[in-house]
Amino acid sequence: MTNSLSANPANVLVTGASQGIGRAICKEFARRGHAVLGVSRTKPELHDPNQSNLFASLTWASLDLANTDEIGGFASSQAVSSIRTVVLSAVDYGLNGRHSVSTTLPEEWRRVISTNCIGHCILVSQLLPTLLHNAPGVVINISSDVAVLPAPGRAAYAASKAGLHAMVRAVAEEHLGDQLQIYQLIPTFQLLTAGIRRRRPAGHDFSSYGDPAIIARVVTRLADREGPSIPAGAYMVQPDGTIEEYGERAAFPR
Ligand SMILES: NC(=O)c1ccc[n+]([C@@H]2O[C@H](COP(=O)([O-])OP(=O)(O)OC[C@H]3O[C@@H](n4cnc5c(N)ncnc54)[C@H](OP(=O)(O)O)[C@@H]3O)[C@@H](O)[C@H]2O)c1
Repeated sequence: MTNSLSANPANVLVTGASQGIGRAICKEFARRGHAVLGVSRTKPELHDPNQSNLFASLTWASLDLANTDEIGGFASSQAVSSIRTVVLSAVDYGLNGRHSVSTTLPEEWRRVISTNCIGHCILVSQLLPTLLHNAPGVVINISSDVAVLPAPGRAAYAASKAGLHAMVRAVAEEHLGDQLQIYQLIPTFQLLTAGIRRRRPAGHDFSSYGDPAIIARVVTRLADREGPSIPAGAYMVQPDGTIEEYGERAAFPR
């Protein structure tokens, strides 16, 4: 990725672009011909002599989601004026190793919730006018089972993901019929990413972990409205890349 703007203004914004699922999503969008703007704190190393054309359509900008002022400046910058698709993939997983609520320190609550939840909430809310102006728009949140199921030993991460999941669901309800499609993806399996690798002990067996490209292909399929139209909502992603609706309304019919 370069940090200068490419010839075409970016129409796709991806958070968490420096590694893992976010990086795979950037690459898949670029492979499909989109001009992609990836954001993270560290610049991704994507030099690949075999795919130089691919990386030419990727641009990168520094953005710390834990810094509210930075988000405000970024969301009002020229770099996002043509964005029609926003994918939320950045994450701070918190401290390594599972630890109970009573041993989770204030700094971890603050950092994890401010990055994963508050940072993304502010970013999405400030980008909504742009998405509506450039409609049809798409928001895709890479959610998690911890957002909807108990996650002992990972409370800060779970609280942050549940908060963001709830916020994105509210956005979807507020914009029904607004030419804005809002999706949340819940992987049903582990994906081998740098963030996950760092959290596992040495010698851990990763053979059952999936390739982040599986999620990237689902994301681009939704954003490009490929095949029969898929209604906005939350979907569980299976290891073969198929998706199945997650019935979040089942228990509380309105
Ligand atoms: N991997 C899995 O098995 C799995 C399963 C279910 C759901 N998910 C979800 O998938 C998403 C991606 O996970 P992953 O495993 O690919 O994560 P990862 O490998 O840890 O990558 C996290 C990304 O977030 C960025 N980031 C972290 N703190 C940031 C900050 N303060 N400001 C801006 N960017 C920040 C990192 O870049 P910098 O450090 O350069 O800023 C990095 O690009 C997450 O939302 C996660 O909850 C993952």
